[in-house]
This record gives sequence, structure tokens and C-alpha cells, in this order.
Amino acid sequence: MDITSNKLYKTKAFIDGAWVNKVSTFSVTNPFDNSLIANVADCDRQDCKHAIDKAFEAFQKWSKFTAGKRSKILKKWYQLQLENVDTLARLLTLEQGKPLAEAVGEVRYGASFVEWFAEEAKRIYGDVIPGHMKDKRITVIKQPVGVVGAITPWNFPSAMITRKVAPALAAGCTVVLKPSELTPLSALALAQLAEEAGFPPGVFNIITAKNPKPIGEELTTNKKVKKISFTGSTAIGKLLLEKSAAQVKKVSLELGGNAPFIVFEDADIDAAVEGCMISKFRNAGQTCICTNRIFLQESIHEEFVDKLSKKIEQLQVGNGLDTATHVGPMINESAVVKDENLLLDATSKGAEIRIGGTRLDGLFFSPTLVCKVNPSMDISKQEIFGPIAAVYTFKTEEEVITLANDTDYGLASYFYGRDYARIWRVAEALEYGMVGINSGMISTNVAPFGGVKQSGFGREGSKYGIEDYLNVKYMCWGGVV
Ligand code: SIN
Repeated sequence: MDITSNKLYKTKAFIDGAWVNKVSTFSVTNPFDNSLIANVADCDRQDCKHAIDKAFEAFQKWSKFTAGKRSKILKKWYQLQLENVDTLARLLTLEQGKPLAEAVGEVRYGASFVEWFAEEAKRIYGDVIPGHMKDKRITVIKQPVGVVGAITPWNFPSAMITRKVAPALAAGCTVVLKPSELTPLSALALAQLAEEAGFPPGVFNIITAKNPKPIGEELTTNKKVKKISFTGSTAIGKLLLEKSAAQVKKVSLELGGNAPFIVFEDADIDAAVEGCMISKFRNAGQTCICTNRIFLQESIHEEFVDKLSKKIEQLQVGNGLDTATHVGPMINESAVVKDENLLLDATSKGAEIRIGGTRLDGLFFSPTLVCKVNPSMDISKQEIFGPIAAVYTFKTEEEVITLANDTDYGLASYFYGRDYARIWRVAEALEYGMVGINSGMISTNVAPFGGVKQSGFGREGSKYGIEDYLNVKYMCWGGVV
């Protein structure tokens, strides 16, 4: 299939319902073989300002649509995404590298947020509170915050967009989105489908740009933008938060993680190995919720490592478009070098590589199992963001809780065990926004995704996800005599 002749292959920016050409473009390449996929419009700060102005104008009308009308258009967008799953997934794999089956999964996952929030649009309820004085009545309503600036990452080029844009639009906000410069094609394809679904001009705008800095600068300093929603690194999240503070903008941040994966001796080891494989090797290890540190209770260490090794050895590395592939390429050279350096540091301090441990041709890294890892190593403090399973051992529950919480991050965590009381104790003690209990897969549209500590704040998905796009207003009614 020649993707360039497909209607979803778009290379212009999308502002105020129009496809905007730029003389200057930037190239998008396939991480599998570095081949050129597209030259995409390189917008500047002025374009971003223009998009914000248009989103601001559109907000005046969109926010006054009935919830039912907004919901219908969102539903249509959802249906169009499902009808175009194959093309959306192919584009995604081409620009991001993940195996096609995972890309299909991501597109469906992304679409599920649109369906969910199409429904939630109709449930933005207020309150009636008993008055504090005889002649007083109190009512509470929720209103859309206004124009939202959304900045999304390359690791989930489709789902991270819908997870922000759908609740924003459902709430009555309008959006200016800056997708990752590495993966803008999925975003533009979603814009094409949004246009077909019937969103009015200016409601959903996409600014594509090679240099994210001036775009981030405009989004965070323009007074018409009332909220910033960002998924990406903790370092950039802190910068955006700092910039947004000057105007006290509302901010949601979904940042880095350092997920512990704990296996207690009473666990179902086969199930734990399965869970570990999913949570570690999904997207070549490039997700914020990927397992970063595997803690094994001493007595089950050998059994778990043996079983995990056998599974890792079966992983096929290759082109995401090839159906036999389990692990695609990494996103770029610096991601590969980072993982090489993490392993160098770990082995120099006593860690032992059991499987893999080397980079392969191009941007591939061999699925790796490294044991005897300890907290003095860089690999225990940094997000690996690659296909490296790092194994630690522990003796007691108390010890492993301390180890697991010994990080600035607090996004996802996982543990396996059967003791009912311990499950409660551990789940409560883990300082994380999300806990997978006997499960390595926790992502779903119906649950609140988000972190604590330096992993950010705000929740995406579920009934909580729309709250970040709403202001609460209370009205005090007097003179009721
Ligand atoms: C992420 O890596 O930030 C998103 C992962 C997910 O939603 O499963």
C-alpha cells in the first residue's frame, strides 16, 4: 500500500479548519531504516499565536453547544477512527516503529477515550448545596476552562492525543495541539478524521513544528490559553510548569516513571512472568509505565529468571510492519546510546548480563536481561525507556517497599502475590498513582491514569479525566424569603 496516496496522509498543519502549507518543512523518518516518510509543515510561533486566536474565537461558540451536540460529533470521530484503524496503525508504525499489532491496539485504545468522553460530555453535573443561612441557596456548576494547549509525545502518537483532546472537547474547550516532531503524521490523520466528523473550524488545531521550544513558549505565555496538558519527560514538564506559573494556568502533567515490578514468593510465577513481559517489552520498553526495576524475593529468584529468560529469548526484533516482529526499533540514536551507557555503568558496578546487552544494526537494541542490579547504579534511578529487564533481589516486604519507593517518580507500579492482607498493605504503601496487582497491563479508558511525586499530576481517562478541563463555579443565591 502506498501510504502517500491515502487521504489520511497529511503533511500540512491544521488551523481553523484549513490545511496550512509552509515554505519551510521538516522531515519525518522511519526509525526502522531511516527512510523519509514525509516533509511536514514547519510552523513558527506566529502560526501558533494565530491558531490560539482562532481557538479562542471558536471557544465562544463550541462551549455553548449542547452537550448532546458535542457528544454526537465526538461519537462520529470515534467511529471514523475505528473505520480507519488499519491506515492509522500503518502510519503509526511507519513513523514510530512499534509492531503493527501494537499500533492497532494503540489506535483502538486511543479511540476508546473518544467514545468514553463523548458519553461523559453529557454527565457534567453540578450540585445543589443546602444553604448556610435561611434566605440562601447554593448551586454549583462546571464550565469549560477555555483554550487548551496540548503537547504530546512520540511513544504513543495517537492515544496520547485522544486522551487529552477528547475530554477537552467534550467539556466544551477548544484545543491547540503540538504533536511530537518525530511523529506528527498520526496527529494530522486524526485531524483529517476530526474534520470529517464535523468539528467546527478552530475547535481542534494542530501546529506541527520541528522546534518545540517557541511553540511551548507561546502556549504557556499567551493569555488566551487557560490550560496546558503535557505528556513527556519530567525535565520538560517542569519547564512548562514554571512558564505556566506566571499566569497561574491550569496544568496537567503526565511525566516520567520508574516502575517497580515486585514478585513475592507466594506469587503465581508463570502469571508474573507473563505480566513482566507485557509491562517491560511493550513498545520496545518505551512507555512511561514500563517496568523499570524487577524486584524478586530471594527464594523465587532463580525460577523467575529462568522462565523470564526463555520468554525473552523468543522475542523477534525487526520491522514493525513485519507480523513476526515483537520488538521494533528504538526512536532515535540518543535512546540507543542512553541504554548502552546504562548497561556499561551497571556492569562496571557488578551487574551481570544474562541475555542480550548489545545494540544491533540501525536503531535496534537486543532484548536484555541484566541481574544483580542494585540502587547504586544509574539504571535504578533513570527511566530505561528501552528493552532492558533489570533484576534486583529482596528479603522482606518492608525492605522492598522502601526500595520501590526510593525514587522521585510515582507513576505506575506492579506486584504479584497471593496473601490477601499483604496485597492490601503493599498496594497502600506504594507511593504511586497506579498499582497493577497481579496484572502487568493497567492501561484502559475507564481508569484514572496519572502519577504522584515528580511523575506529575492530573488524571486522564475515566470519570476523573474530564475534571481537569472544567472550572467549578458556585453561586450563592440570597434574598430567598
Ligand atoms: C505512556 O507511556 O505515557 C502511556 C502508556 C499507556 O497509556 O499505556
